Amino acid sequence: MLAGGHASAVSPPASGAPADPRNTAETLSRYMDAMRIRDAVSADLSAIEDIYGHYVESSTCTFQVGPGTLEDRRAWFADRGSEHPVLVAEEDDEIVAWAALSRYRRREGYAPTAEDSIYVRHDRRGRGHGKALLAALLARAEGGPLHSILAIIAGDHPASVRLHAAFGFREVGRIAEAGFKMGRWLDVIFMQRMLGVDWVVQGEGDAPARPSGAS
Ligand SMILES: CC(C)(COP(=O)(O)OP(=O)(O)OC[C@H]1O[C@@H](n2cnc3c(N)ncnc32)[C@H](O)[C@@H]1OP(=O)(O)O)[C@@H](O)C(=O)NCCC(=O)NCCS
Repeated sequence: MLAGGHASAVSPPASGAPADPRNTAETLSRYMDAMRIRDAVSADLSAIEDIYGHYVESSTCTFQVGPGTLEDRRAWFADRGSEHPVLVAEEDDEIVAWAALSRYRRREGYAPTAEDSIYVRHDRRGRGHGKALLAALLARAEGGPLHSILAIIAGDHPASVRLHAAFGFREVGRIAEAGFKMGRWLDVIFMQRMLGVDWVVQGEGDAPARPSGAS
């Protein structure tokens, strides 16, 4: 039962519309000719780990310092529900980029919020794969049940900040010197994009719901 049948005490979501209206499903279809985006399967995990491992070793865009293992990657892949997809972009049957939505935090009350990850193979950056994958993630997320997506970005990565801003993510916070890698303190920028779902609160319960009549 909805509380009075009206929108809740939760603040109305900020617009989830992309900042650049071209960055929607249209973007996807523009890139789909050259690239195929699909859900990852377990056979893709080695390529996913290889793409990521390059950035672990060479970049501050991930705060991971030591190499990961395929076993860790398998556990990461297994521990997700349908609202937390892993997508891969293929070119000529090769995986050249991947993106995922993952739980932001493990405590149950954070369930409406996801964190995104997008990694393009280092030799394929700047060719639209990041855009296409983010558009695909958002198209998937708009189907529910998530309420917002966070991009948690090391402060010295303007490409990632610009990519997310172009899709309607807004900076909502910044932690100074949250991390340290490669001999430097690293700020972390939190960007958030609300999704097009007007949650309402159900009584005193722990699970918000869509307004009645919403599809
Ligand atoms: C950030 C990343 C995902 C972007 O993907 P990409 O395929 O290289 O980028 P695209 O070609 O799709 O470009 C998307 C937007 O990103 C921004 N961008 C891309 N490369 C950029 C660069 N070198 N400098 C500044 N902005 C850049 C631009 O805003 C661009 O949009 P525009 O071309 O309309 O201006 C990719 O470069 C990457 O994997 N980087 C390393 C890992 C990382 O930082 N991941 C994000 C962690 S969540």
